[in-house]
Amino acid sequence: MRTIIEPFRIKVVEPIRMTTREQRERILREVGYNVFLVHAEDVLIDLLTDSGTGAMSNLQWAGVMRGDESYAGAKSWYVFREKIHELTGFEHILPTHQGRASERILFQLVGGPGKVVPNNNHFDTTRANVEHSGAKAVDLVIEEGRHPTTRHPFKGNMDVAKLEALIQEVGAENIPIVMLTITNNSGGGQPVSLENIRAVRKVCDRHKLPFFFDACRFAENAWFVKMREPGQQDCSIREIVREMFDLVDGATISAKKDGLVNIGGLLLLRDEQLVRKANELLILTEGYVTYGGLAGRDLEAMAQGFEEVVSEDYLQYRIRSTEYLGENLLAAGIQIVEPPGGHAIYIDAKHFCPHIPPHQFPGQAVSCGLYRHAGIRTSEIGSVMFGQGGATPAMELVRLAMPRRVYTQSHLDYVVEGAVELFQQRDSLRGLEIVYEPPALRHFTARFREL
Ligand code: F0G
Repeated sequence: MRTIIEPFRIKVVEPIRMTTREQRERILREVGYNVFLVHAEDVLIDLLTDSGTGAMSNLQWAGVMRGDESYAGAKSWYVFREKIHELTGFEHILPTHQGRASERILFQLVGGPGKVVPNNNHFDTTRANVEHSGAKAVDLVIEEGRHPTTRHPFKGNMDVAKLEALIQEVGAENIPIVMLTITNNSGGGQPVSLENIRAVRKVCDRHKLPFFFDACRFAENAWFVKMREPGQQDCSIREIVREMFDLVDGATISAKKDGLVNIGGLLLLRDEQLVRKANELLILTEGYVTYGGLAGRDLEAMAQGFEEVVSEDYLQYRIRSTEYLGENLLAAGIQIVEPPGGHAIYIDAKHFCPHIPPHQFPGQAVSCGLYRHAGIRTSEIGSVMFGQGGATPAMELVRLAMPRRVYTQSHLDYVVEGAVELFQQRDSLRGLEIVYEPPALRHFTARFREL
């Protein structure tokens, strides 16, 4: 059979509220053309993020009831610890309330003024935590990863020659860790190959540098390795996952992605001294070492989520859904970042509306257009997000992030139809002007006026 179906049936449903174009037009005016400020109830298909927006399974909900809420040494903690140990081989597992809490603990310990942290591409919160510590965040993704239409099977790879050059330039003593984000969210959800992970490991070994993953989407990365990397087709996802984690000294993970839960995070470590210091910070700001910032029921849901996410049926459906959305947009002439990534499709807004210059925010115009036309919520990743202070980002993108196990193929067909209809009327899209912006991270709260 050719058709790849959703490998689940639906046991609980959550109604979504239909709105009219007139209602959405009024809402857009009221929120100053910023979809972050729209009430979720007024959104039909919410593609703002794939983080914490997934649907839990029957067994995860059963885990919620099993949750042991003892303060220390809860049974749920041991269930969770055992599952993560089995999957990653790590002995030292610190639970946190979400990914950025793991990042804060890590960079508070290894960051600091004068330090430089290389990554393929830092995600915003990772960069913010590196910089908050006083260190500098440097992005070293391969050249192909910087161009939306260039196809490469592992567009998230790090440029190993650039890593060597950076080490020569700033000195290994000033690089506390080398990081790789799998998959590379800021670079379009593109995967990193095992070969590249091994190559980075070699460089780290030569210079005695610790190597860490930002492993939010580790299972999606493993699926791409299995599909695309020569010699990996016969390996199971579990084997690939284990091989990836065996190559690093630590990882920060937001379980809101491949953990298939609505809240949760982890920090994985090997170095005993770092573990002691991280545990002290964990207790100081998150919670005791056997629950982090979480409830026992959250740990149970995470343990089961990490089990379900390495299922090949799940991953095939997951990656195919994203690809299906991307292929259909491309077929209609809408330029996206190619090839489709794991968790999201990124529309090239410069191509979508060439009549809107970057300083009038073409990505914001497309994002508002999708909401107005079809009630679809997306996020701008372009001049609104990165242009504060006069910077001009290379790309003007609109991200359609895919919540896990939430929308069916007919929802995606609706999204395609909405985007294609908007594309046909793209000349009617208007640029925007900012009427209010906060001093930093303006994309969350800025307000606009249509020109
Ligand atoms: N690292 C990556 C690669 C991420 O994509 C995210 C979150 C984080 C770290 C931080 O994790 O939200 O649990 O604190 N990404 C979400 C997104 C917010 O929409 O891409 P968190």
